[in-house]
Amino acid sequence: MTVESVKPAPPEVPELLEPPVAGGRIPLLGHGWKLVRDPLAFMAQLRDHGEVVRLRLGPKTVYAVTAPALTGAVALSPDYIIAGPLWESLEGLLGKEGVATANGPTHRRQRRIIQPAFRLDAIPGYGPIIEEEVHALTERWRHGGTIDCTSEAFRVAVRIAARCLLRGDFMDERAERLCVALATVFRGMYRRMVVPAGPLYRLPLPANREFDRALADLHLLVDEIVAERRASGQKPDDLLTALLEATDENGEPIGEQEIHDQVVAILTPGSETVASTIMSLLQVLTEHPEHADKVCAEVESVTGGRPVAFDDVRALTHTNNVLVETLRLWPAVWILTRRAVTDTELGGYRIPAGADIIYSPYAIQRDPRSYARNEEFDPDRWLPERSKDVPKFAMSPFSVGNRKCPSDHFSMALLSLFTAAVATRYRFELVSGSYDTTRVGITLHPHRLMLRPIPR
Ligand code: HEM
Repeated sequence: MTVESVKPAPPEVPELLEPPVAGGRIPLLGHGWKLVRDPLAFMAQLRDHGEVVRLRLGPKTVYAVTAPALTGAVALSPDYIIAGPLWESLEGLLGKEGVATANGPTHRRQRRIIQPAFRLDAIPGYGPIIEEEVHALTERWRHGGTIDCTSEAFRVAVRIAARCLLRGDFMDERAERLCVALATVFRGMYRRMVVPAGPLYRLPLPANREFDRALADLHLLVDEIVAERRASGQKPDDLLTALLEATDENGEPIGEQEIHDQVVAILTPGSETVASTIMSLLQVLTEHPEHADKVCAEVESVTGGRPVAFDDVRALTHTNNVLVETLRLWPAVWILTRRAVTDTELGGYRIPAGADIIYSPYAIQRDPRSYARNEEFDPDRWLPERSKDVPKFAMSPFSVGNRKCPSDHFSMALLSLFTAAVATRYRFELVSGSYDTTRVGITLHPHRLMLRPIPR
């Protein structure tokens, strides 16, 4: 008898199962048709098929994750990276060397460079700019008439991101140009992602020309901003200085292309997400005047009637809860994707290397298993005695882990101040011609919200 033959057999490792295929496939088209036709409802009903399910999108199999804990596991695990068709199309348009699409050591280095600009202790420094922009916006509405919330929201979001993070007096005219360029680029990018008809977008059609012009102007603007900052010799304590002074792994200054792509990679998600959330907030204040009144009363009790200031935000509990509940029901980033870099396991299922994963913060944050009266707008569910029951990862509009939005504190502060400033000055009425159903694009927001501001 040899020694080997008496060694105990290794414990049986259970074979991991393939996740079930979600129901509702259409022959040849798979699940793609439903995903395109009504993405929010489609993503939400997947939870009825399992915690991890397989989807057939044309010839591809994609793994959808529907349980909060498992979305947290994906976001926190190094086995999943940013990759896949969505990211490739973004890279083609916006640049390959920005933080939003990098992985591994490059991504870690880039996060280290940009992080100080978003640290909690850096945010009060942006207070005066945010106050100025938010009050200028409400002042513009003083003359009555109808406001087109899409352009108003985009304008204030771009101006705040550009002025806070790229500073400089030149920003005023540039912020306006950035606004126009980014709004057009976002509309066109979504079209190109949903209908990836490559050659069609090269035809000299008016819409294609407008998109190409806007994209070229966006890149030109960023070049101008960088060149002017260099020429000025000034080094204000901001994100642009951090990028211009940054060095790579070898201690060498980072390249021009990386600086350019980083500015684009920060400005683009920064303006679209904030603009979308502002639109959703305006819709909420219109549809729930009782909460708008409560915000107004809370702000006045803190300010005694003077214009609300950045420093007041911390004391505005209900205002903050209105914002959080808006982010729960209408998370600007409604879908996230990853790719498995190795064979791995999720929720007891086998996920093969190379698999594309999707999950939807929209679906997770409306799951009736996590939220009583899940579809109801109820800011008080964020009072401490109630919010403690919300399961882990069931509310992550800024995501978690190494790709978590660097701008969560900055965004929350500016959006709270926006909510407070707007609700204390106006009530809103929906104007006919408004189309306030949810529009699903790169982000989520009301289709075309037209409001009449009524001074309080
Ligand atoms: C990443 C949400 C505002 C810059 C993300 C991610 C989410 C998110 C969910 C993670 C994406 C992923 O995991 O794939 C939001 C929401 C915002 C907001 C809901 C506002 C309501 C901003 C602002 C900026 C910004 C204002 C910059 C000015 C970024 C960047 C990333 C990112 C650069 C990529 C981070 C990385 O990959 O390491 N954001 N964001 N975001 N966000 Fe935001």
